[in-house]
Amino acid sequence: MAQTTSGLRAVLSHPRIYSSFQSLMGARKFRTNFVSRYIRPFPGMALLDVGCGPADILAYLPDINYWGFDISEDYIGKARRSFGHRGHFHCKQLQMEDLDRLPPFDVVLAIGLLHHLDDEVALDVLRLAHSALRPGGRLLTVDPCLDPSQNAISRFLVSNDRGQNVRNKTGYAALAGAVFGDFSAELRHQAWIPYTHCFMECVKS
Ligand SMILES: C[S@@+](CC[C@H](N)C(=O)[O-])C[C@H]1O[C@@H](n2cnc3c(N)ncnc32)[C@H](O)[C@@H]1O
Repeated sequence: MAQTTSGLRAVLSHPRIYSSFQSLMGARKFRTNFVSRYIRPFPGMALLDVGCGPADILAYLPDINYWGFDISEDYIGKARRSFGHRGHFHCKQLQMEDLDRLPPFDVVLAIGLLHHLDDEVALDVLRLAHSALRPGGRLLTVDPCLDPSQNAISRFLVSNDRGQNVRNKTGYAALAGAVFGDFSAELRHQAWIPYTHCFMECVKS
């Protein structure tokens, strides 16, 4: 994973500090909107969260069939302590062969993941998500994004993200388009603590 872990950004590896920092950045409002507008949960939904971190999104979801994978033991430990009974949490990099033991998914999440990955690894994740989805299922991604329309504060914060592969909308869309025939990419500017994200919805036909 290409991630800057020196200086101030090192403390974000601590799950409690990561979650608090996310709250400061407006995660509560972001997650509430994201769940209702993008995830649109329904009873029995099977959801795969790749790079789930401490699985904070679960606090905003009803009871569903949730599977979270992350390479950080600390984050998965916090997810288990917080939500143990509500999901399946695995500390590992998900591989194609793991899919044989998993259900077909209605939704795959990769929130804040692609900007940590170079193109080769990001494409592997997208192919994996495509294979994990049932026909009609959706991959949802959200990542920091560079764009000429963003203000100076947003550009500074996005440029200094821990992830070493922050792209512009065209860059994220090129990844999605290489794997999914049907996808949309949308740029969104956050007002409270200026920040710019690229949201993508990729549908398995
Ligand atoms: C910015 S965090 C996002 C966490 C969570 N999705 C959220 O929204 O709070 C990125 C996460 O991706 C994980 N990660 C990075 N590369 C990964 C990979 N190849 N497979 C699984 N997780 C990965 C990191 O450990 C980290 O928890």
